[in-house]
Amino acid sequence: MSVRKYVMRGVAILAALLAVAGSAIGLYVFRTWDRSWDAPLPVIHASTDPEVIRRDEYLVRGPAHCAACHTSKDEAQAAAASTSSTQCRRR
Ligand code: HEC
Repeated sequence: MSVRKYVMRGVAILAALLAVAGSAIGLYVFRTWDRSWDAPLPVIHASTDPEVIRRDEYLVRGPAHCAACHTSKDEAQAAAASTSSTQCRRR
């Protein structure tokens, strides 16, 4: 067998293996993408400790940037107007 035929056969085998692997992965994802599990939910409770509330309020209003996504445009503009946007406030 010539070198060229040998290489072509190798490429064909590789392509066939990739096609089979791709199909297997596609089938696996198709069958499993929307699975659900019966896992127990974690037990959570809201703290009433003022120090914990103060710390979390600081995080939510400050470094965590929650308001960047969880406020309406109007609320964000009102907040920006009432404080300097370059100032990092800690309350
Ligand atoms: C980059 C934008 C972004 C930031 C910043 C962000 N969120 Fe969200 N948040 C989202 C989006 C989008 C969803 C909806 C996700 C979904 O429904 O799959 C969401 C969902 C939530 C939910 C769940 C609401 C529900 O109906 O279950 C809570 C609670 C929440 N965010 C709180 C926070 C808090 C607290 C912070 C700050 C620590 C924060 N988010 C920061 C974009 C953001």
